[in-house]
Amino acid sequence: MFENLKLQPEDKIMALMSLFRADERKEKIDLGVGVYKNNNGQTPIMSAVQKAAIILNDTQKTKSYVGLSGNLGFIDNVSQLVLADVVAKNQVVGAQAPGGTGAFHQLLLLIRSIGDDKQVWISSPSWPNHAAILKHLGIPFNTYSYFDYETCEVNFSRMMSDLEKTNSGDVLLLHGCCHNPTGANLSLEHWKELTKFCEKKNILPLVDLAYQGFGDGINDDVKGLRYMASNLQELCIGISCSKNFGLYRDRVGAALMVVSDKKNQKLVEENLKSFNRVTFSFPPDYGASLVEIILGGNNSKNNELIHIWENELNSMRNGMLELRKSLSASLRLSTKSTRFDFIERHRGMFSLMGLSSDQVTRLREEFGIYMVGDSRINIAGLNKDQIDYFSSSIASII
Ligand code: LMR
Repeated sequence: MFENLKLQPEDKIMALMSLFRADERKEKIDLGVGVYKNNNGQTPIMSAVQKAAIILNDTQKTKSYVGLSGNLGFIDNVSQLVLADVVAKNQVVGAQAPGGTGAFHQLLLLIRSIGDDKQVWISSPSWPNHAAILKHLGIPFNTYSYFDYETCEVNFSRMMSDLEKTNSGDVLLLHGCCHNPTGANLSLEHWKELTKFCEKKNILPLVDLAYQGFGDGINDDVKGLRYMASNLQELCIGISCSKNFGLYRDRVGAALMVVSDKKNQKLVEENLKSFNRVTFSFPPDYGASLVEIILGGNNSKNNELIHIWENELNSMRNGMLELRKSLSASLRLSTKSTRFDFIERHRGMFSLMGLSSDQVTRLREEFGIYMVGDSRINIAGLNKDQIDYFSSSIASII
């Protein structure tokens, strides 16, 4: 019977991980999957997470089920982290989900249930799993221009002119910060204009927020999103704690909805719970409890964990900003041009280098440098000692 199965297209980021593992060259560099690495090439467990794990181990009395929405303390704390006080607490409805991908999936189930006449608009390019999940769920989608391959910045006027084709009730997928794969971000002015646009055309924003704290700062990264959330009646946010808490494998995420209408709040809450029930039943609690312990420090004078976490996240971000500076300086020297100066202006883990797929293949085959086929690099995959090797390899293939 199983011969009737069709081979599924392999996710290009996952495929690259396997290729890298199989490569035996010593000098190989992994700039593929979006996992933070320190200068020793390790993805350490953050020390706030380690301390929270001890507290959890000492205080947790049961492993019985929590609830279909998951850990409500976690939801409250991440809502506060993302939205601060710009939206009244009683207007935020949330449910925990396994990671940012799980949150995105659950939000799409909800969107699909609102009606089948809507399209989801995603940026070109976007994280490959966005289109893959939309396709899997049979939700119609379209793309809008986002990245200008000439300047390696956002082309906002082209984006807005594509979005003129949206219809009332459509969904606009935005990246909250640290756009994946490009690294080119919307400015606060862009967010303001998009807010006006969504209000005027009755467009529902769906914001994928996977990198808060990795761009300019924990609060700076969500200025645009907060502006939007405080000015619209309805908004969906998919949150991931994989990167900013380093909890990748523990699958910590949340679907948050800003819902102004009281009657609709109950509807949204019950629907999210029911979608959890039929997808995975109860969301995984372990990582969410760790995040709750860390962020819950806000409410306790004695709890230093939130400060430890903030400091650690700040130093991860500053390390990436330093790498960006050094890399663009080194590329300026090796290519004798300013072509790659945008690397210093991009934010987050990624930059789209604007290389052809042949050039990406040459870098992998001749130099052992692994980046995603669209030429996305993960800045955090580089260490300081590899910068010159990387730059001179780029110079020799362009
Ligand atoms: C990435 O874009 O590399 C990360 O978000 C990991 C993933 O799941 O693709």
